[in-house]
Amino acid sequence: MIPLVDLRAQYHSIKSEIDAAILSVLESCEFTLGSEVAKFEEEFAAYTGSNFAIGVNSGTSALHLALLAADIGPGDEVITVAFTFVATVAAIHYTGARPVLVDIDPRTFTMDPRKIEAAITPRTKAIIPVHLYGQPADMDPILAIAKAHNLIVIEDACQAHGAQYKGRRAGSLGDFGAFSFYPGKNLGAYGEGGLVTTQDARFDRTVRMLRDWGAAKRYQHVLKGYNYRLEGIQGAVLRVKLRHLENWTEARRAAAARYDAAFAGTVINAPQASAYARHVYHVYAIRTGERPNWQQALLQQGIHTGIHYPFPIHLLPAYAELGRGAGQFPHSEQAANEVLSLPLFPELTADQTNTVATAVLRLGSRAGRKVAVMSGATQ
Ligand SMILES: Cc1ncc(COP(=O)(O)O)c(C=O)c1O
Repeated sequence: MIPLVDLRAQYHSIKSEIDAAILSVLESCEFTLGSEVAKFEEEFAAYTGSNFAIGVNSGTSALHLALLAADIGPGDEVITVAFTFVATVAAIHYTGARPVLVDIDPRTFTMDPRKIEAAITPRTKAIIPVHLYGQPADMDPILAIAKAHNLIVIEDACQAHGAQYKGRRAGSLGDFGAFSFYPGKNLGAYGEGGLVTTQDARFDRTVRMLRDWGAAKRYQHVLKGYNYRLEGIQGAVLRVKLRHLENWTEARRAAAARYDAAFAGTVINAPQASAYARHVYHVYAIRTGERPNWQQALLQQGIHTGIHYPFPIHLLPAYAELGRGAGQFPHSEQAANEVLSLPLFPELTADQTNTVATAVLRLGSRAGRKVAVMSGATQ
């Protein structure tokens, strides 16, 4: 059996460090925020090359507080992509602002900068590019458009810990970065967690207050805030795991390179890493028009796959009001129909990648033959 991700394998590789870190919080009783969270914030800020980092209780909360700190609310519009996890759009909705969707570049699965200008109105306040699957969006044109229109940029870096755009880390490029530490993420907590990065001291102060009931000091509530605090145990776990993140990222990249090499020059539609990117392969998604059959056939061979994500936002019942039905964001819709995530995690062995790649290639060659027969028949 080859799982999509293997959290237990990772825990066992660092068990003694993790167990000691958790026990130390049980002794200190700093269960919410506290010194482990504060140290983690410093270390993660340094890791991303950001001036400030504020730990919160999820990636969704990170997006929500970044939007609030940028003073976004009812009557405002925020541009993001139709092909993302629902949380990106939900966080905009929480503020009372209206999400405005644009399509993706089908080569990278990230925001197509050429689609942004047409979506801008006098109400537009911010852009949220999503570094989907661990590959940064094409940030230079996005930042240039934002500058020209005086818009805030919030990077949804929830899948992109350690990713780089032209040598700069995800989370340090826009006004804010939002990270998730959901357990399956490249840097995952043992529970829920998230974090906001920013370069601006005023934004740092506002997000810090908003996550803890809007208090400047205890019981001095100067803003209408939230209980979005990061737990002490998660801070301690994340500090341990951050020390391993670069090795794990290189292991992910090596596994992705093995898949790439196996699929190069074949009919398999493998993901493309842009020249500007250090892709950190949170997800390795191939495309196939025969996804249900392939997924089933792989499962029969003990190979687990995933779909990230089967519906674009505007075709979800909860957000149907954001589109005018199918056909509006064709690249997002096609991606949602075709993407198939193969097993990818740092502990995945070369033997396992070979097994997966061989099984996929076998399916591809069968599909290839079918295409050849069909095109032969039409001649
Ligand atoms: C692109 C994206 N945005 C936002 C989120 C929300 O993060 P969380 O689940 O920690 O709230 C996630 C992860 O689930 C995500 O993948």
